[in-house]
Amino acid sequence: MEELSFTPIGPGEVVAIAAVLTDGVIGADGDQPWSDPADFARFKQLTRGHVMIMGRRTYDAIGRALPGRHTIVLTRDSGWRAHGKGAEAVRVVDGLDAALALAATTWPESGIGILGGGEVYRLAMPVTTRLEITEVPLRLPGDVTFPEIDPQQWREVDRRPSDGFSWVTYRRVAVDGPDWPATT
Ligand SMILES: NC(=O)c1ccc[n+]([C@@H]2O[C@H](COP(=O)([O-])OP(=O)(O)OC[C@H]3O[C@@H](n4cnc5c(N)ncnc54)[C@H](OP(=O)(O)O)[C@@H]3O)[C@@H](O)[C@H]2O)c1
Repeated sequence: MEELSFTPIGPGEVVAIAAVLTDGVIGADGDQPWSDPADFARFKQLTRGHVMIMGRRTYDAIGRALPGRHTIVLTRDSGWRAHGKGAEAVRVVDGLDAALALAATTWPESGIGILGGGEVYRLAMPVTTRLEITEVPLRLPGDVTFPEIDPQQWREVDRRPSDGFSWVTYRRVAVDGPDWPATT
């Protein structure tokens, strides 16, 4: 398979990965409203070997563990069990802090991919260091959205147009420049 070029996820880096349609739509009726084979190939290459943190609803939508990745699922339901192929390797935690601590102690050489959905992208936004957004200029109905990408917080650093969508990378705007902290 052709290797696609992108910046790999570094150890400890926290990268949110999402396919985002017009108006921020990412989910509809518990599923993804859009997918594309080339985008999926890039997703697989970007995430291979890393830790994937996702909400219980997103895991249910996928229906199995992602092979070749370490899967951590967030749920408040202590009785919930992972299901589907590879479920025995899935780790289940009751919050984001527990997920990040588990990732850091168990797989310190791996980076972290935040795989959504809407609730978990929002929850993880303060600790996310990079956004890898597949920007899809399509208006489809949906009931789950990606959080606002605040231009005060995020700067677009790369944009790669593809067939019907673009891969867009955002990094956090530095807050420790010469004007920070503000002097009084
Ligand atoms: N387009 C994309 O790239 C993309 C990517 C991923 C997902 N999606 C879509 O997004 C939708 C799912 O998103 P969603 O927002 O409905 O759900 P979600 O974020 O996948 O999962 C939400 C669930 O995670 C658990 N959770 C959330 N915050 C938690 C916390 N602080 N502590 C412990 N557990 C917590 C809860 O599980 P319990 O209810 O079990 O307690 C909650 O119901 C689906 O349609 C999916 O297909 C799209």
